Amino acid sequence: MVLLPTPADTTRLGAAIARALLSNRQHIETHGFTLGLSGELGSGKTSLVRAILRGLGEMGAVKSPTFAVLEPYVVSSLDFYHFDFYRFKDPAEFDTAGFREMFRPGAMCAIEWPERAAGKLPTIDLAVTLEVSGDGRRARIEAASDIGATCLQHVLTEMPGAGSTMPDTASTPGAGD
Ligand SMILES: Nc1ncnc2c1ncn2[C@@H]1O[C@H](COP(=O)(O)OP(=O)(O)OP(=O)(O)O)[C@@H](O)[C@H]1O
Ligand SMILES: [Mg+2]
Repeated sequence: MVLLPTPADTTRLGAAIARALLSNRQHIETHGFTLGLSGELGSGKTSLVRAILRGLGEMGAVKSPTFAVLEPYVVSSLDFYHFDFYRFKDPAEFDTAGFREMFRPGAMCAIEWPERAAGKLPTIDLAVTLEVSGDGRRARIEAASDIGATCLQHVLTEMPGAGSTMPDTASTPGAGD
């Protein structure tokens, strides 16, 4: 668990994730990368993605994809797709929108509300769950693949106390704590 008492801490975590991604660029080119962002409304998912994009070199506006569902970027010569499935009424909308083909080599996919595309998404390499905690936030970071674990280790070295590697996140007891 990493404590994020202020928005600046969310920015710091995003920058650390961006550096982890850039140091694994070759894997992204050959396999792609998926980042899940869970947590209630206003918990800071978009803020974190904005910080990641800044860290990857995006200079322009980073809008919430809540209404557009997808906001695409090209950063560091890689595709970055920022999804928000909040408005999905049925996970099948993932297929009809043609999003499946965007999860491919050379593309990073950051997904807010991944639960609303349940059963449709490929393995989430790195899953961040944000919680409101007083005036601030807390983040739980879990890796579900080797590349996710590599990135998590990188983030851990910059944000002491952050996360843990959980090879089987789906059956982790106490996940609803
Ligand atoms: N560590 C933090 N401490 C306090 N406030 C924060 C922190 N990180 C982000 N925030 C604030 O939380 C607010 C909501 O953030 P954001 O829009 O990113 O949430 P979200 O999870 O994407 O919401 P939604 O589910 O509606 O898409 C913003 O005003 C942002 O500044
Ligand atoms: Mg959002």
